[in-house]
Amino acid sequence: MKLVVRNDDRAVAALTARLIADLLKARPDCVLGLATGRTMERVYDALVEISRAEALDFSGCRTFNLDEYIGLPPGSAHSYRTYMNDRLFSRINIPIGNTMLPDGSATDLAAEAARYEDAIRRAGGIDLQLVGIGETGHIGFNEPLSPFTSRTRDITLAPGTRRQNAALFDDDIDAVPRRALTMGVGTILEARRVVLVATGSAKADILAQAVEGPVTPMVSATALHFHPDSLAIIDEDAARHLKHRDYYDSVFATDPEFAPFRA
Ligand code: F6R
Repeated sequence: MKLVVRNDDRAVAALTARLIADLLKARPDCVLGLATGRTMERVYDALVEISRAEALDFSGCRTFNLDEYIGLPPGSAHSYRTYMNDRLFSRINIPIGNTMLPDGSATDLAAEAARYEDAIRRAGGIDLQLVGIGETGHIGFNEPLSPFTSRTRDITLAPGTRRQNAALFDDDIDAVPRRALTMGVGTILEARRVVLVATGSAKADILAQAVEGPVTPMVSATALHFHPDSLAIIDEDAARHLKHRDYYDSVFATDPEFAPFRA
């Protein structure tokens, strides 16, 4: 895992969006793995901004989102499909048919999970997977005890996750679904690159566990240590509890891979 610390959430979003934009320019038919949540709101705003300034062409790109709630009525304002349509897809020139999320309203959830895995495979796999981190350490909705080999499946959300996400349900925790369909940890690890984005002091504790271990299925994000190309982009607030900050700073100052970020 490599780590970049930026001053604030704006700078984190700008860098993350830049990585996606550069990938899209190099590979107009790239496959993006996307995430939702508050952290990604700024990332998508920054990506839309670059898209307008540099006339990015998303027409050949395909996207797969990490997860979707189970049991929301079709068209619900709280679904991740609505979030993605509103925050990104309607603001760039991606054909909506190229945008995939697991279908949380499927009657046969196991079949839907298998179909989603198959669709990712048939697309040639994911080039860059964006992930946020929940306060339970989840990536996607892989709550504690998710096997590192897990695939797309339905899962029960941790109480902490439902509390964390209640803000998006008008602070009504009872309105937050109890279950979701999520890519598995194993599915995420198959992406060619994984970019973890974390901002804000509420993430400082779990981020330190994710980065500095121990590696454990109690904190799904620690599975990213098994990935050959994972990058965490975080802000100063989220970096607060890291113990080896001086080392990460010296890597950032000297690693040739970070040269473009230093400029
Ligand atoms: C969302 C997802 C989650 C969030 C995580 C952080 O699709 O899979 O893992 O990325 O819960 O959410 P925020 O950014 O709202 O703190």
